[in-house]
Amino acid sequence: MTTARPTVCPARLVPAPLGRTGTPNSAAVATTAAASLPSRGNTTPIGSIAYMLASRENRCRVYGSNRTPPLTARRSAAASSLASRAESESGMLIPPPWKRSAYRSHNRTMNHRSGRHFLQIPGPTNVPDRVLRAMAAPTIDHRGPEFARLAREVLGGVRALAGTVRPVAVFPSSGTGAWEAALVNTLSPGDKILAFETGHFAVLWAAMAAQLGLDVDLVPGDWRSGAGPERVFEKLSADAAHAIKAVTVVHNETSTGTVSRIPEIRGAMDAAAHPALLIVDAISSLGSVDYRHDEWGVDVTVWCSQKGMMLPPGLGLNAVSAKALSASRDARLPRSYWAWRPLLGAADTGLFPYTPPTNLLYGLRESLAMFGEEGLPAVFARHERHAEATRRAVRAWGLDIVCRNPAEFSSTLTAVQLPGGHDADLVREIVLDRFNASLGAGLGRLAGRVFRIGHLGDLGDLELAGTLCGVEMGLALAGVPAEQAGVRAALDYLQSASR
Ligand SMILES: Cc1ncc(COP(=O)(O)O)c(C=O)c1O
Repeated sequence: MTTARPTVCPARLVPAPLGRTGTPNSAAVATTAAASLPSRGNTTPIGSIAYMLASRENRCRVYGSNRTPPLTARRSAAASSLASRAESESGMLIPPPWKRSAYRSHNRTMNHRSGRHFLQIPGPTNVPDRVLRAMAAPTIDHRGPEFARLAREVLGGVRALAGTVRPVAVFPSSGTGAWEAALVNTLSPGDKILAFETGHFAVLWAAMAAQLGLDVDLVPGDWRSGAGPERVFEKLSADAAHAIKAVTVVHNETSTGTVSRIPEIRGAMDAAAHPALLIVDAISSLGSVDYRHDEWGVDVTVWCSQKGMMLPPGLGLNAVSAKALSASRDARLPRSYWAWRPLLGAADTGLFPYTPPTNLLYGLRESLAMFGEEGLPAVFARHERHAEATRRAVRAWGLDIVCRNPAEFSSTLTAVQLPGGHDADLVREIVLDRFNASLGAGLGRLAGRVFRIGHLGDLGDLELAGTLCGVEMGLALAGVPAEQAGVRAALDYLQSASR
């Protein structure tokens, strides 16, 4: 097969090797791109894509640093052989935290930790007890009338969270599935898309697009800022032929705690009078911050259940504009499981095209009731308050917030950068081991240098305060030079904000 095909590496104009059918061969794409990249230290956008592609097998290990194995398991032969096998396979992996860390000062064997675990990663978040109880109901016939009523109720209710009046497609999937659904329903092989390297998730999504055979223009970023509306304007204004079919943006970059300003990006697209679709990942913002799919002119909003929606993982969602739905009629990327139409139809019929995650939908009904009781404006204000309290703590510790621009601060998580020479995974390890709280790991190029405090979902002031206490003590125990003043600053703020 010699047909010329668009490259997945537009920035470098490296032709993507083709599979036998003429579609880009993802394994070969990975190899080509990765061959020129000595390590994950390559921080060009294309380097980032190649890293993600080449290490796809090992993505679980990048995430895996969120889930530090128990101390007893850490030194097990199985764990180290898995780690070294994966390392030798990719040659560009991050050493696992339990290998890097020098923290060995206590050898307690703890089979029981009293008190509740604090799950303060930026998703999955704490699932409220009443949601868990709601999900513990018997599974019913998904083709029967009771299920149809449930499905119609929750598929109707979920629209308000996204700020849309149109049907939403709900897949039994993680967020990654919802990403794929957004792309395969709207685009055709070789279509050009404009993406922004705001952090780890933006790069992963771009890598997925490249694997699907799209021509990705990934605008470089410093992982400390959101997508710049001015860059959107420049790129689209320069595209007189309208080759760019979609702009993809991660609204709240979960790896950095940085927000991209979607209304301004929409404004830039309109100012350039460009017809590209606007596809937004609102995975770690939706349900926690004010998000308006219809009003902001977003064409596809992607999100999932395990963050602001206070549910376990398992639901991937797409809100879809009329323009996106019409694009889906001509889009030629292969799709079957991810096809929108039968799922959008479920809003009326209450029938899914395949077995739905019945018990998660019970949970969704309960979480929607909770949103109704608290009221969305109060939910958003609570997230802003907790974010501000956390940032005050970080500043009082004398540490850096990864996000540079206050206008782009995330309300759902704060990524904290440690001074050079200090290991963020050691802090996380101590906080988990001593204080039974999980913090988010630094992802991708931020691994080991950054930890993330999730403050989204079902969270009260005292839970946030407890989390910050754990961090403050963990910093001290890890020997990080930080003022012991963060908790005080956060408490002062929370107290004044509750007057
Ligand atoms: C912004 C963002 N996008 C995409 C994903 C991927 O979602 P999932 O892990 O559910 O597939 C995540 C996961 O944390 C995320 O935070």
